Amino acid sequence: MTTNVTKQIYKVQRHHRSKTNKHNSFVVWLSGLSGSGKTTLANLLDEKLTQMGIKSYVLDGDNMRMGLNNDLGFSEADRKENIRRVAEVAKLFVDAGTIVIASFISPFENDRQIAKNIIGAADFFEVFISCPIEVCEQRDVKGLYAKARKGEIKNFTGIDSPFEIPKGADLILETDQIDVYQSLQVLLQNINKKVKKGA
Ligand code: ADX
Repeated sequence: MTTNVTKQIYKVQRHHRSKTNKHNSFVVWLSGLSGSGKTTLANLLDEKLTQMGIKSYVLDGDNMRMGLNNDLGFSEADRKENIRRVAEVAKLFVDAGTIVIASFISPFENDRQIAKNIIGAADFFEVFISCPIEVCEQRDVKGLYAKARKGEIKNFTGIDSPFEIPKGADLILETDQIDVYQSLQVLLQNINKKVKKGA
């Protein structure tokens, strides 16, 4: 626990940044199995927001694990720390006026709740990217399910590590039922008001 530190208040505050940007900032948190379509959707949403003149940035599980979180593995404790750090980073981006698209398996309800608490419920829009494991495994974009089945990867989500279905997600997108462009449309409709608030 950190001691002997004092919160420093800076002149330029979040509301100044949102006034300059002409849009609000918050986190779109995408959770779901590997291969469920998080990255594809994050990519499209980021592109669309950028085209609309809205500041956005993707925090991606694989990418974060190549830098800030490269000391973490896939035990429950490491996943918890992964999500905690990511939530703290996301909170900074939100303070800086940017819409964050957080793309993480984030398989544990408790860890997602911790992320929500760190970021603040008002700035946390939780999306469950729902897709049956059979479909994710069939897609196996990265070839990781095959490795996990052979026992070459331990603690693989959906195989020998659990995924807890989000209970209170703000939106569920079933990526085996609708294509990514439809998902994007539904997501945009759902976040539209949040984006404009503060403009
Ligand atoms: S989380 O569970 O801690 O939220 P995160 O989203 O950061 O996971 O990272 C998941 C990515 O790491 C997957 O997309 C996959 O490419 C890779 N990966 C490597 N090992 C595992 C594993 N055991 N379980 C899940 N994903 C893994």
